[in-house]
Amino acid sequence: MSSCQEKQQCGSQQGSELPEHLFRELDAFIDTLPTKEGHLITVLHKAQSLFGYLPEEVQQYVADALNVPVVQVFGVVSFYTFFTMIPKGEYPISVCMGTACFVKGAGKVVDALKQQLQVDVGEVTPDGKFSIDCLRCVGACALAPVVLVGEKVYANVTTDQVKDIIADFA
Ligand code: FES
Repeated sequence: MSSCQEKQQCGSQQGSELPEHLFRELDAFIDTLPTKEGHLITVLHKAQSLFGYLPEEVQQYVADALNVPVVQVFGVVSFYTFFTMIPKGEYPISVCMGTACFVKGAGKVVDALKQQLQVDVGEVTPDGKFSIDCLRCVGACALAPVVLVGEKVYANVTTDQVKDIIADFA
């Protein structure tokens, strides 16, 4: 199993220091809701837009605020692909690790990205610019291997192109 696959499964980050004012903003948002029941997904959306991702600490906070078990929050965060437990950089780099991309060398592209940026999958570069994560099939298998940087799509990516891709955002 590549490190990309391992990180995708474990997800949450420990020991993060999250800005207190973002919790206050989240509180203010929750206060605007007519009721606390039935708004878990709405609140998680808001939390992700504030923090950029949903680490364990935020999931626990949301669970307490809405009086729901944290396991229920974790279940929702894990189920919906638009929620992430991994922090993102200003330019999040996502590598498709679906079968077609994997077979065509996506694992090597991940390794090249890790080497070039000196961070692991699920980490953000010290300047906050880039992060690396992995996706399941993004539905563009004919273009495999596929790399996304934010909204921008790179097709048929080789390890030799990794430097140039990063340079596009440097
Ligand atoms: S496997 Fe990567 S786009 Fe389908």
